[in-house]
Amino acid sequence: MAGFAGRHRLAIVFGGRSTEHAISCVSARGVLAAVDREKYEVIPVGIAPDGRWLVLPDDPAVLAGVGQELPQVRPESGRGVVLPPDPNGASLVAVEAVPAVAGGIGDLDVDVVFPLLHGPYGEDGTIQGLLEMAGLPYVGSGVFASAAAMDKQHMKTLLAAAGLPVGPYAVLRAGETLSEAEKKRLGLPVFVKPARGGSSIGISRVDAWADLDTAIKTARESDPKVLVEAAIIGREIECGVLDALDGGAPETSLPAEIVVDSAAGFYDFEAKYSSDATRLDVPADLPAGIADRVRAAAGAAFLALDCAGLARVDVFLTSAGEVVLNEVNTMPGFTPSSLFPRMWAASGLDYPALVERLIQLALRRGSGLR
Ligand SMILES: Nc1ncnc2c1ncn2[C@@H]1O[C@H](COP(=O)(O)OP(=O)(O)O)[C@@H](O)[C@H]1O
Ligand SMILES: [Mg+2]
Repeated sequence: MAGFAGRHRLAIVFGGRSTEHAISCVSARGVLAAVDREKYEVIPVGIAPDGRWLVLPDDPAVLAGVGQELPQVRPESGRGVVLPPDPNGASLVAVEAVPAVAGGIGDLDVDVVFPLLHGPYGEDGTIQGLLEMAGLPYVGSGVFASAAAMDKQHMKTLLAAAGLPVGPYAVLRAGETLSEAEKKRLGLPVFVKPARGGSSIGISRVDAWADLDTAIKTARESDPKVLVEAAIIGREIECGVLDALDGGAPETSLPAEIVVDSAAGFYDFEAKYSSDATRLDVPADLPAGIADRVRAAAGAAFLALDCAGLARVDVFLTSAGEVVLNEVNTMPGFTPSSLFPRMWAASGLDYPALVERLIQLALRRGSGLR
């Protein structure tokens, strides 16, 4: 099914209920500006922080931040819609009275969805499940891989089961604390993080056990399940993975390096989004043999979690030359200056071509089991 003048109707879904709402809006601004309007009729769908779905005008200006504020989906800027979990009717159903004049929208059909959401209620299999129920093809990983990659405990379990190296860690469920034996096993420093977080929100580096409880409390503000990880001392390297259009093995980008000089001593929220203290080397200055090992590990991690479409795989490279997997992001930051698009640009695929490839992959895959 294609819409008016043979164009596919592409819904770009962004914002959402997670703490990464604003980052998602910035990613969406980039994609909205890059989509080829001759091929696609774009339907921007913003999810407000309270979870309301709104169809917004196809105009990147609606996502501009106000003054110094981060961008946000504002309920007054669009028209309320819902996506019913029924593949037989219109995809998006208007939930507000629709004036019969221009500017109003009725029910809308959609051919393909780009769920550009980060964090819980987006990158974690929830929206993927809804899109499966609605029979809509979408960009990126399916329900299982999205959920598995979002939960740092299960991600590590699957990666380790596939023979990939992950660092030592402990899992604390609601109410649990770290035992003395676990403290001994992990050693200082440790990183304390929400199991299902992102953008470094809720993460602390702990250099003295006296600070552990505060760090656990901070992580629990985002998630009752918390991971305590032994700190891996090494360089932070990332690698992009993309499915091949011909259905062959996934392709990997040239890796990039994050060099952080932040007060927190790691790649925290500040270092990610607002500081000058972070240097991104794209591509990373690595001996060819090491770059190949990073790429092989990234491709293997993608397959181990059953990812689809795209993923950014983050690793540590120890001084002994060991590649230790940190995490797999199934919907990495996607602004034109984000690492994932930049790594692909350095590898010969520019931002508009990357967006086009992801949409084509989604259309080819269709919906249902794969
Ligand atoms: N085990 C670890 N050893 C060393 N640094 C870590 C460790 N875990 C996290 N970090 C630091 O914290 C940052 C954020 O952690 P990460 O697990 O990637 O969470 P997020 O999903 O929020 O990006 C990493 O980029 C790294 O700088
Ligand atoms: Mg990370």
